[in-house]
Amino acid sequence: MAGVHLEDVSKSFDKVQAVCDVTITIADGEFFTLLGPSGCGKTTTLRMVAGLESPTSGRVFIGDRDVTKEPPKNRNVAMVFQNYALYPHMTVAENIGYPLRIRNKPRAQIDRRVVDVAEGLAIGDILSRRPSEISGGQQQRAALARAIIHEPDVFLFDEPLSNLDAKLRADARTFLKDLQARMGITTVYVTHDQSEAMAMSDRVAVMDQGTVVQIGPPLEVYRRPASVFVADFLGNPSMNLLKGNLTLHEGTPAVQLGAAAVPLVQPPPGIERVAMGDAVTLGLRPEDISIHIQGGEDGIPGEVHVVEPLGSETLVSLKTSVGSVKVKVFHDMDLAPGDVVRLVANPARVRLFDRAGTAIGLA
Ligand SMILES: Nc1ncnc2c1ncn2[C@@H]1O[C@H](COP(=O)(O)OP(=O)(O)O)[C@@H](O)[C@H]1O
Ligand SMILES: [Mg+2]
Repeated sequence: MAGVHLEDVSKSFDKVQAVCDVTITIADGEFFTLLGPSGCGKTTTLRMVAGLESPTSGRVFIGDRDVTKEPPKNRNVAMVFQNYALYPHMTVAENIGYPLRIRNKPRAQIDRRVVDVAEGLAIGDILSRRPSEISGGQQQRAALARAIIHEPDVFLFDEPLSNLDAKLRADARTFLKDLQARMGITTVYVTHDQSEAMAMSDRVAVMDQGTVVQIGPPLEVYRRPASVFVADFLGNPSMNLLKGNLTLHEGTPAVQLGAAAVPLVQPPPGIERVAMGDAVTLGLRPEDISIHIQGGEDGIPGEVHVVEPLGSETLVSLKTSVGSVKVKVFHDMDLAPGDVVRLVANPARVRLFDRAGTAIGLA
């Protein structure tokens, strides 16, 4: 068992800087996710932990050991890729036992371990089949079984669920999270799917263009995104980002959005660094806005555009003078396209970003 530490790690391929000065400390037993859009450097970072890619600069530690120059086989990590790459000509049992066979373990010991691990993953009854004769979910479990059989110090996952259909993916997510928690093996997980990252991780690192832009527990990153980029990347639908100007409204700092002023009832610390009149972006999650049907003065005037019932809640898209806004409301709220309403922000949840897109009020 061991944590993972990346120290100022960079990687260039010819002209492409894939990873730039990444420093991350992952605790022993932690489920840590690298999250970001395609091409942001997640896979390259993971491959440097595995030893499949060597950093241009910086160092990689597993536990206390500097493994920067160590080949993959000396790192005791197990990697599961998007396409699980089971060997098609081997049975499930042979696939699972493969890491032990290449380590020349005794046959009887291998057979015992294969059955143990397979039963733990509920695939004990398909051991004699070939990969083509089992379902996608079973293939994924077989690949997992193969990864865990030699009890690695660290699990490395690169989008392991993205080839599964939606229902299987949701089940596999729960299963994998539980398995990791039970085994307590340090895990570095790569995904571009923010909901997967939110659901599974102890902490996430959000990456953009080779750099880590924010690290934290999922809900903290969700509630307090460090930048407009993170705010936009997390959440479905993502945070409403409304461009306005800082102003004073009845003596309180506020954001002027067209004709409406949204008071900052709890002005964030650091607001002094923005001058009155400066451009700012107001960030509001769809669940942090309420829709007022009755007339009144409060809030941003808007008109209901599209109503999408999702089951437990309803997603409402509205037109306002400062752009379109999405709001989640409880499913029993009666709204129809064309309704004229007012949008009122939950003052405790208002986020503010400066002209450069950096959050104001993050410690
Ligand atoms: N072997 C390689 N040779 C050249 N460029 C690469 C190589 N691997 C990755 N890249 C580039 O590095 C960047 C990051 O890639 P990658 O780590 O695969 O991102 P992600 O996994 O987040 O989609 C991309 O611009 C990609 O094209
Ligand atoms: Mg990738």
